[in-house]
Amino acid sequence: MSRTIRIAPSILTADFGHLADQVNAAEAAGVDLMHLDVMDGHFVPPFSFGTEVVAAVRAATSLPIEVHLMVERPAEHFEGLAQAGAETQIFHYEAAGNLDESRTLIEQIRALNCAPGLAVNPETALDEFEALIPDLAQVTVMTIRPGWGGQSLREDLLPKVTAVRAAADNAGLDAFVIEIDGGVKAHNISQCVNAGADLLVAGSAVFNADQTPAEAVAELRAALA
Ligand code: DX5
Ligand code: ZN
Repeated sequence: MSRTIRIAPSILTADFGHLADQVNAAEAAGVDLMHLDVMDGHFVPPFSFGTEVVAAVRAATSLPIEVHLMVERPAEHFEGLAQAGAETQIFHYEAAGNLDESRTLIEQIRALNCAPGLAVNPETALDEFEALIPDLAQVTVMTIRPGWGGQSLREDLLPKVTAVRAAADNAGLDAFVIEIDGGVKAHNISQCVNAGADLLVAGSAVFNADQTPAEAVAELRAALA
């Protein structure tokens, strides 16, 4: 089955002094949505940003926004992030801790008219969260240790992506989104798609010191062609 492949830049390595310009440059380069990494300094060591920055990105672009909540208590942030303009809210299975709490969080996200996504750390196996797939719009497979941009993709995690795709297919979920987050570059993006992903986060691949976002996105698209 051929899927539409979408690219979602993460702004973690963007120039925050010119954030709207950076977002506009990515949009002009033809990216599909924005991936905004919210970190609380507890679930992961760094702090990043919260609702104000999400709202600033919302004001700068008409692209859809997904928020990736690397936070210990995601439920405390859903409402503010929805108001700030997020369409998809991705919480971590490791923050929820179990299936029941995950189902509660999924319901809370849906009650805000947002799409629920589940992010899973490298050490979290499919059988821990597979039962949630029918309730979700998206699974985000982390191919790095979460918290920092610019790390290398762990290829040993691509079979997990394939297994999540098989689970979604078996559940009859044709439109299910599987995202890879961490280390996606031009040299491995087609491997990610072949593994079963249809949404690719690209942080340092889009916002870096060597290329403009236009050059970077063109290189990613060429690698997919
Ligand atoms: C890290 C974030 C990622 C990060 C990706 O925890 O979830 O979205 O920004 O950056 P790259 O693409 O550079 O790995
Ligand atoms: Zn992310």
